[in-house]
Amino acid sequence: MKLSFIGSGYVGLTTGACFASLGHHIICQDIDEQKIRKLKKGECTIFEPGLEDLLKNGLASGNIEFTTNIKRTIRESEIIFICVNTPPKEDGHADLRFVERVARDIARYLDEYKIIVDKSTVPIRTAEKVKETIERYSDKKVNFDVVSNPEFLREGNAIFDILNPDRVVIGAENERSKNTMLRLYKTIIKDKKIPIKITSVKSAELIKHGANTFLAAKISFANLIAEVCENAQADASEVLEAIGLDERIGTQFLRPGIGFGGSCFPKDIKAFKKTLEVFGVNHSFIDAIESINNRASERFIKKIEKMLWVLDGKSICVLGLAFKPNTDDIRNAPALKVIKYLKDNGAKIRVHDPVAMPKVKNIFSDILYFENPYEAISGSEALIMCTEWDEYKKLDMKKLFALMVTPIIFDGRNLFNRNEAKKLGFKYHGVGKQ
Ligand code: UGA
Repeated sequence: MKLSFIGSGYVGLTTGACFASLGHHIICQDIDEQKIRKLKKGECTIFEPGLEDLLKNGLASGNIEFTTNIKRTIRESEIIFICVNTPPKEDGHADLRFVERVARDIARYLDEYKIIVDKSTVPIRTAEKVKETIERYSDKKVNFDVVSNPEFLREGNAIFDILNPDRVVIGAENERSKNTMLRLYKTIIKDKKIPIKITSVKSAELIKHGANTFLAAKISFANLIAEVCENAQADASEVLEAIGLDERIGTQFLRPGIGFGGSCFPKDIKAFKKTLEVFGVNHSFIDAIESINNRASERFIKKIEKMLWVLDGKSICVLGLAFKPNTDDIRNAPALKVIKYLKDNGAKIRVHDPVAMPKVKNIFSDILYFENPYEAISGSEALIMCTEWDEYKKLDMKKLFALMVTPIIFDGRNLFNRNEAKKLGFKYHGVGKQ
């Protein structure tokens, strides 16, 4: 099928590349000329495992092309996916100006029946507004449908998630658009047992915000248990593992830590709060999720300060800067909050992250960056673990012990084996445990 993706960021680029790998013809469009130039050469513009290979293969087979030309993008495809960003406004509402601009472009160039798909995460009723906007700005009477088809990919696992989704949600108002979307998704599902939920457009829009809010709530619940365990000398890992074994609850997303970050959960729960406000629904549930999440990093910082007493002049190593492993995304990364506090209180910060350091350099120019975790740890008075990259799990603990001036670990992700660390002589502080 001929598909186009307006907005070649995380969602548009990865989804476009995956559909190209299935044999569809894809146009990925973006207003950023530099980005398109790089993509045309097969250079990946985001860090996402497996994506560069898909792009190279897509370019070689001719299944994927990149352009800034919006007219061609709209005219030469049967399904147009809107994948532009929907950043938060100051009051928490999703800023839909980019979605609106795309709708106006579509109105201008639409010349025959097309399906327009809201793929970006948007508040309920956005599709309705997109439809109104296209109708308002179009000077010809051309038939079209707007469908909501939310994306559930996780950064760092995007390719797998797109090709093996837990479910596909299609919010469509008529048979024609529903059947075309089903035809497309059958090429992903093949003979896999993946449920497809056909819903109203509004329900589909709500499913995405609802799912992210629920996942964020699970993490905040885990952090609440961690908080009480720290005060009552219980072990949150033991507690949460046993709670999760109830099939109705499940073990995933119950890992306590220093709080969730990234470009999705913090933004989406704020936007959902605004939706609740708009529809006159109390949002104290979401306030609690946010407040526990903020407390998770604050508690961690307080713990470090309490143990180290004076921060001024202390050499502290922070491992992991991205908001989670397998990405260089540092948006709302708790590590940045930790570093800022320690730095503002006079600590000398030494950091390592496998891929996120170039981005952090734009934020903190006065901390030390190392290409190797052992070098970052060398001579430090405390080790702070902020992102659970696999390579940190393989660190030689004996070597770490020998390299540190005072062997103290603050493990914000419960990555290290506490008993092994203690046996080696480390002072070890995990989350939700002693
Ligand atoms: C999230 C959702 O998981 C995706 O389904 C959704 O499509 C995406 O948002 C989106 O809306 O686009 P993502 O933000 O990439 O995906 O990252 P997650 O893997 O969900 O992790 C989010 C944060 O939660 C990370 O900071 C992670 O460290 C933290 N987390 C996760 C915990 O602290 N504990 C856990 O048990 C799990």
